[in-house]
Amino acid sequence: MSPEQKLERLKELADQAMSCPDFVKFHDSPSGDPYYRFLFLVAQEFRPKIMVELGVNFGEGSANLAAGNPDGIVIAVDARFENLKHEQIGKILNIEMIAGETLSAVGQVHQHGAPNLVFFDSDHEEQYVHQEFKAYDPICALGAIQIFDDLNYHGVRPVWEHDVDGLKFEHPGLHGEAGIGIRVKT
Ligand SMILES: C[S@@+](CC[C@H](N)C(=O)[O-])C[C@H]1O[C@@H](n2cnc3c(N)ncnc32)[C@H](O)[C@@H]1O
Repeated sequence: MSPEQKLERLKELADQAMSCPDFVKFHDSPSGDPYYRFLFLVAQEFRPKIMVELGVNFGEGSANLAAGNPDGIVIAVDARFENLKHEQIGKILNIEMIAGETLSAVGQVHQHGAPNLVFFDSDHEEQYVHQEFKAYDPICALGAIQIFDDLNYHGVRPVWEHDVDGLKFEHPGLHGEAGIGIRVKT
């Protein structure tokens, strides 16, 4: 499948996620959950061997990725695991948790190999978003799927507009007003 075809398929999966049932659900999110269902569908369809969630919170993103592709590994990075209700994801066998800043964890993540999927959702301050993208993009495999959450918050939009180039689209409904963008690395 060419990168262009992959992007088109990702658009179809995003639309499908808007109306399909939940796969793994930990709590009710006020901003809506279709993007969790999207993560499951993407993992199920593309079978990314190495999946990374940067900023994990309750862990629903990692849990959906892990359930979508039980043969892959999810590396879940968060600086504040101790404050979070992560008991559920701690029990999921194909999730490895790294406690620390995402920028410090890049080497540890890379030890697993080149990520095939990265979900960017940690610090949304512009300089941090910029540095995080510049740190993780080079270690991603060609054809990697990159998902940027909360495009309309804080500093994410400028980085999405100016640094995240190439094959990409923004989905209007997948994460409500917060916005979400998807890129295929070429
Ligand atoms: C928006 S929440 C993540 C939500 C999660 N991805 C989801 O979709 O359910 C942001 C998370 O990023 C973490 N975080 C913020 N800045 C960070 C940093 N510099 N390094 C690592 N984690 C960070 C916070 O502790 C928080 O759990």
